Amino acid sequence: MRSEAETGKIISIAPPAGGDATAADHMLDPELLRRNLVVGFASADSEDVHPFSVLRSQLLKHVRTTGSRVFAVMSVQPGNGKTHVAVNLAAALGRIHPTILVELDLRRPSIGQSLGLSPIRPGIDDCLGGSATLQESGMRIEGTQLTVHRVRTPKINPETLLSSGALAELTDAIRNAADRPICIIDTPPAVIHDDIMLIAPAVDGVIMVVEEARTSKRALVSTIRSLSPTPVIGAVLNRSISSPLQTSEYEYYHMSMAEPNST
Ligand SMILES: Nc1ncnc2c1ncn2[C@@H]1O[C@H](COP(=O)(O)OP(=O)(O)OP(=O)(O)O)[C@@H](O)[C@H]1O
Ligand SMILES: [Mg+2]
Repeated sequence: MRSEAETGKIISIAPPAGGDATAADHMLDPELLRRNLVVGFASADSEDVHPFSVLRSQLLKHVRTTGSRVFAVMSVQPGNGKTHVAVNLAAALGRIHPTILVELDLRRPSIGQSLGLSPIRPGIDDCLGGSATLQESGMRIEGTQLTVHRVRTPKINPETLLSSGALAELTDAIRNAADRPICIIDTPPAVIHDDIMLIAPAVDGVIMVVEEARTSKRALVSTIRSLSPTPVIGAVLNRSISSPLQTSEYEYYHMSMAEPNST
């Protein structure tokens, strides 16, 4: 028998106790964003946002060419910069296009804190568990087209939530949304093999964050193979030692997106 989480409640259930049924606009604190290196909301002429504007353009081209709109940001090891890239890319996209940022690192969530979002409102964990709707867990960021679904409470064993069928319902709901949003999903590191194996089939493509001099080629190839048939559509070389695109207070990035026909 299917559990509550499996029965199509993603879109349509009553608000959970203590939850706010309306997705009010959330104002972000610029000082907190600065401290947490969230630069993606800045205007395109800002030097700090440049790498994310480049990545945004490459992703928009991929979206236009393939029609794919649901992407996971992954990396082999912990700490390679997945959340940093996912949040900043989603922020940059949300300036010009309907965008949904979903946190699926259910074990060690950090997006709520990083953006200073309410710790009380329902989260994507509640949504996957069937006690909140997608609308209820979404927090719309004021002045942008970005909606964030952060995790409310860390989970020790998130496999049940990720394997319930609710994740596929969630990504289908996003694909079918009238405003055709682009969805960026933050994930746990690939060393948490079970979680990414459950997330990969639900997405259209993976953006792989690679840390120069830290991510081994062998581990990267093995991870990419294990994600198949979900394609890796691009790579972000974070903290690049060579070919710096920018310096300032941030460490170097080098970003590239594969041509759709080469994936
Ligand atoms: N290019 C960068 N420049 C400066 N700081 C960075 C950069 N990329 C990541 N960081 C910082 O490094 C730390 C780890 O990054 P982040 O949390 O994004 O990694 P992660 O891959 O999501 O880690 P985890 O696997 O634990 O979820 C954070 O404090 C982040 O702000
Ligand atoms: Mg992270």
